[in-house]
Amino acid sequence: MYAQIQLMPEQASVVAGQVDGLFWFIMGICVFFTLLIAGLIIRFAVKYRRRPGAATPRPIYGSLRLELAWTIVPALIGLVIFFWGARVFFDVARPPDDAIEVYVVARQWMWKLQHADGQREINELHVQLGKAVKLQMISEDVIHSFYVPAFRMKQDVLPGRYTTVWFRATKAGSYRLYCAEYCGTEHSRMKGWVHVMEPAEFEAWLRSTAEGSLALAGEKLFKKLKCISCHGRGGQNLAPLLENVAGSDVRLDNGKVVLANDDYLRQSILDPRAKIVAGHQPIMPTFKGQVTEEEVRALIAFIRTLGPGDTPPRVEQTPPPIDESKAPGEKRP
Ligand code: CUA
Repeated sequence: MYAQIQLMPEQASVVAGQVDGLFWFIMGICVFFTLLIAGLIIRFAVKYRRRPGAATPRPIYGSLRLELAWTIVPALIGLVIFFWGARVFFDVARPPDDAIEVYVVARQWMWKLQHADGQREINELHVQLGKAVKLQMISEDVIHSFYVPAFRMKQDVLPGRYTTVWFRATKAGSYRLYCAEYCGTEHSRMKGWVHVMEPAEFEAWLRSTAEGSLALAGEKLFKKLKCISCHGRGGQNLAPLLENVAGSDVRLDNGKVVLANDDYLRQSILDPRAKIVAGHQPIMPTFKGQVTEEEVRALIAFIRTLGPGDTPPRVEQTPPPIDESKAPGEKRP
């Protein structure tokens, strides 16, 4: 029974060693000072206890050397912890450029994961050994937290906003994934596995589960939802073309310029009135409730692939899903 109780989880990512090093350093300082102070209290209490017939000693007021020591030493220790912690934090917070993206949608009470190549998983994530993986996460309901102890990785997953976290696995094997934010009745059962596989093994897994890329799913959706009627070529300039929009600066009708990141694209799908692109009318209806977070993710993945001239041709002439009440001027048939 006791064989299963571990002091620390396995180290299976590049940051695990750094996090543990800092943890044990702080733990060591805490233990050292706890023993030192508790030991001195006990020792002095015994040594200087009141004895019968002994005179009451004269109180001592102040000691510059002592006060300097107990100010400067803790300040230096605090600074070491700060700079060391900041270094580890930056390593944990900044995904490397070569990181592949995996999209995570959390809900009560499951983890839905999708690879850029289209593979979907539930409560399981397969990754390649040594490859950096960046997770783009969002929740469909309440706050959850993506926690893999073996990677020393924990990040809250929020409704309405993307959060990211990354890891590079250093050891093949299967590692526990937990939800680390109380999210309702079955919070304790919202868990799964991260499977770290050797490259060849991972390639085989990818092939066996391929089902079309996320961007491809987004393109189909783009046509199905008739986004293409307005955001396509040859329209009446009802809506901006989306080529090269992702990652660029967009000028709004209130004169502000915003970065078209994933959060902006998501908001423009679910709450199109929030930010109106300069030169356009607020005629786009909301798609809130009509698309799931995974579908929003697919649409964004598709929009991100759109370079100049990449907008697919309009297949049929369909009336655009314009919100008539807000449309300016002439009524449409
Ligand atoms: Cu999800 Cu706790």
